[in-house]
This record gives sequence, C-alpha cells and structure tokens, in this order.
Amino acid sequence: MKEIPKDLENSEEQIEEIIGTVGATEETKKETSFLDLTLRPEKFDEYIGQNSIKENLRILLAAAKGRNNPPEHILFYGPPGLGKTTLAHLIAKETGVQMKVTSGPAIEKVGDLASILTNLTPGDLLFIDEIHRLNKAIEEVLYPAMETGQLDIVIGKGPSARTIQLELAPFTLVAATTRIALISAPLRSRFSGGIFRLEFYTNEEIEQIVRRSAKLLNIETSDDAISEIAKRSRYTPRTANYLLKRCRDYAQIHKRPLDKKTVDEALKLIGIDPLGLTHSDIVILKTIIEKFKGGPVGLGTLAASLSEEEATIEEFNEPYLLQLGFIERTARGRMATDAAYKHIDSPAKDRGTLL
Ligand SMILES: Nc1ncnc2c1ncn2[C@@H]1O[C@H](COP(=O)(O)OP(=O)(O)OP(=O)(O)O)[C@@H](O)[C@H]1O
Ligand SMILES: [Mg+2]
Repeated sequence: MKEIPKDLENSEEQIEEIIGTVGATEETKKETSFLDLTLRPEKFDEYIGQNSIKENLRILLAAAKGRNNPPEHILFYGPPGLGKTTLAHLIAKETGVQMKVTSGPAIEKVGDLASILTNLTPGDLLFIDEIHRLNKAIEEVLYPAMETGQLDIVIGKGPSARTIQLELAPFTLVAATTRIALISAPLRSRFSGGIFRLEFYTNEEIEQIVRRSAKLLNIETSDDAISEIAKRSRYTPRTANYLLKRCRDYAQIHKRPLDKKTVDEALKLIGIDPLGLTHSDIVILKTIIEKFKGGPVGLGTLAASLSEEEATIEEFNEPYLLQLGFIERTARGRMATDAAYKHIDSPAKDRGTLL
C-alpha cells in the first residue's frame, strides 16, 4: 500500500477521487478505505443518522435471531460515502457472524461466484459491493442461490452437458450499489429483507460525525471550525472526514489552532467552495448555463462536452447538485435553476428558454 498522501496540494482529481471514490484507481480506493477504517463506526450506536434504516435493521435482525435463521438478503443504495459498506460491517458485528467481502467487478466468471458461494459456512454474511456491475450470466446463478439456497451449475459442454445442484449453507447476502437503476427487476425482487436507500445526512448529523472523528484522531478544534467543515461536506460522512483531515494537516504545518479561519484557508487551498462544491461541480454548472443556455441538456451531451464519464457526473456530482436545488432533472435533460445562476454569479438574463 502506498503511503497515505499527507500533502496539502492534492490535484483536483485526487480530491474528487477521495471524496467520491468514483473513477478512483484501485490504489486510491485502498488508501481511502484504509483511512476510513480508523473512523468507521464499530457499533450501531456509533453510527450517526439514517435512523429509519437502523430501526428497520434492528427489527429484521432481532426477528431473524429469534427464529434462529440468518437475516434475509438486504440491498443498500445511495451516493458514495454515505455509509453503505459501514452498515454491512455493522450487521455482521451485530449478528456475530463472519463477513466475506467481494464486489461486482471482482466476480468475472460464473465459477468465481460458485467458489465464493460453496465456501460459505452456515450463517455467513456475504457482502457484494458495486453489485450493479455483475454480468447477467452471473446474476442468473445468484437468483436460485438467494431464493432457495441452491447452486445450479452446468458441467461439460454440448450434448453431454448436465446441470448439477448443490445445497448451499444458509447465508445472508448484503449488497451495495450507487446505481440502483442498473439493478434488474428480478435481482431486486430477491432482496427479501429489504432495499434501503441511504439519505444525505443533516447538517447536525455531519457536525456530530466531525466531532466524533476529531475526538478519535485527537484533533483539538473549535465549534465554529466544526460547523464550517460540516457545511462544506456535501452532507456526506466520508467527505466530512476527509476535509477534517486536510484542515488538521494545514493547521499542523502552519502551527495554528484549528479554528474557522484555518478551515477557510485550508479548504480554499484544496478548491472546496463555501457550499462544498468542487471544481468539477462548478464546471458542470457553468457548462449547463453558458454553453447550453441553462439547459435542458442530456447527460450524454453534457458528459461529452466536459470529457467526463457519465457515471461520474451521475453518481458523484449530480446527487449533491440536486440536493442543493442547483439543477433539475427533466424528461429532456438537466436544467440549471435560478439558485445555480446566483451561486456562480451568472446574470439570470442568460437563461435562454426560460425567459
Ligand atoms: N453514519 C455514520 N456515522 C459515522 N461515520 C460514518 C457514518 N457513515 C459513514 N461514516 C464514515 O464514512 C466513511 C465512508 O462510509 P462507507 O465506506 O460505508 O460509505 P459507502 O456508502 O460504502 O461508500 P461507497 O459507495 O463509495 O462504497 C466510513 O468509513 C466512516 O468513517
Ligand atoms: Mg462502500
């Protein structure tokens, strides 16, 4: 593993990779997950917010325990960094079972899935991250495994091919995705324990998370610094932790207390604006406004004109811009709102079709 980057001059891409982990290299993902580990809540009580999900899970887990069964299969979805992987770990801890971790892109062949499933021991929790990236042939092997605990595999080719059925150990599948729309209806319907959407956190919840992380990392800070970091955290715990660490570094290098002034300077240096927008968010807004007269513009066209991946815009930038009310999604494409014009200081009279 590479050394954790401590420098204050992260490139735009590095910042976005760490904040979003979308489009991140494997190396960066490892670094972030290493950073995440130290701050990852270990108990349900330490997991702040997402109260309705926690309540539902408590009932689901307790009821399954009462019946002496493994809990039913669960799917979490929502933007990156909101705590899906953390919830999967907490379920394993709460139920005292072993967790095996894999991901959609790591399962390339039917045989990969078959060997994962046949190696499960009774009660295991299997976590499949980025489940939207499983291919169809593999999905089809997963269906009977989820439904009846059976693995159907075809042995041999041509006329001599035959299907054998293996009984699997009872297990719980917990899966996560940032792109629920890419999960096929048959797969969705097999998550009999529930499909849970993680919501953006409230400002107060993010403040609590920053306060908790500062304590764990022994960072001395003031209330106004905490609230400033929270304000710029895109309502996302991973971003909050990342910004806290960058502010800590800045304070340390400049031998200054971590107060609001330090936060303002540190975050200005890494290109995070007062609302937590990154350079790429601003470029997206400016492109919609200046190049497409405020929209509507289709995602594909927007991505092409920014030389950006559609998935990055859709998974990372858009959820926060929608949350802020800076863009609207219409049947004809994305449109910038008045609030967006105001934020990037563009005169509303440029607003072509909406005038
Ligand atoms: N509810 C929470 N309370 C406190 N900290 C949290 C909470 N949720 C997430 N975190 C922190 O944010 C980090 C990122 O969370 P996590 O890795 O679970 O996100 P994710 O939804 O799986 O993201 P991705 O879609 O990128 O995989 C965690 O390591 C943890 O430190
Ligand atoms: Mg995750």
